[in-house]
Amino acid sequence: MALYDILIEHLVEARNVAIFTGAGISAESGIATFRDPDGLWSKFNPTELASMKGFLRNPERVWQWYNYRRAIIADAQPNAGHIALAELERNTPNCTVITQNVDRLHQRAGTKNILELHGNIIDNHCVKCSTPYTHEINIQSKELPLCNACGGNIRPSVVWFGENLPDGIFEKAEYIAGHCDVFFSIGTSAEVYPAAYLPFTAKNRGAFCVEINPTPTSFTPYSHLAIQEKSGECLPCIVELLQQYHSL
Ligand code: APR
Repeated sequence: MALYDILIEHLVEARNVAIFTGAGISAESGIATFRDPDGLWSKFNPTELASMKGFLRNPERVWQWYNYRRAIIADAQPNAGHIALAELERNTPNCTVITQNVDRLHQRAGTKNILELHGNIIDNHCVKCSTPYTHEINIQSKELPLCNACGGNIRPSVVWFGENLPDGIFEKAEYIAGHCDVFFSIGTSAEVYPAAYLPFTAKNRGAFCVEINPTPTSFTPYSHLAIQEKSGECLPCIVELLQQYHSL
């Protein structure tokens, strides 16, 4: 466990901890990542399925594809990695999860303080008048639902390629990354911007940076500690060590 010693030392002293997550943290819950060899983008075309252009060209297909993903997410459970992070939040004065994920497994694991950079797959809204829709929508239906207010198409409230992030969310995330003592980058290829700026913001502002990913990324050489393991396997150990330290 020597590998984690320096991390525990920093965590014990830390007042502010920021945890940046990507699809990899949900992989052990049976949810495919995007860019791994068997990831979603190896089977599906992101321009056709995760862009406004694709939605306007074939809204039914895009709607059905999100329903297919929603069904997988509904059957999935938070894994030991999500659960360990919720525990870390309870053991740290100020801890924020900044996620690119839309599956809400962090929240289902008990994480309270969270920023969703790319929206979420549970909510929907009208493309024309932005009227929000959540539980009113029958996601089993193949038919594309229309807005009661204006008759416009309803779409999932996720951020598609080429779209802006939800108002103010990135600014909040950048502030947190720039003012944390320890910054985790977990289960992300760190290839999608502006989210992928955050690890570098934290590094440049002096945070102790930890990357957890079985595969090296563009951020690996900049991290202080790169743990090339699955998040569901190493996070419970890290939190247990932290709790042991606190109980001394
Ligand atoms: N534990 C930790 N990391 C893992 C695990 C695991 N069990 N399994 C895979 N990974 C790593 C992979 O090595 C990869 O580097 O998770 C990363 C997932 O990267 P991507 O598939 O690129 O997902 P992400 O970084 O979240 O994508 C960012 O791109 O497609 C868009 O909007 C989508 O939010 C998404 C964004």
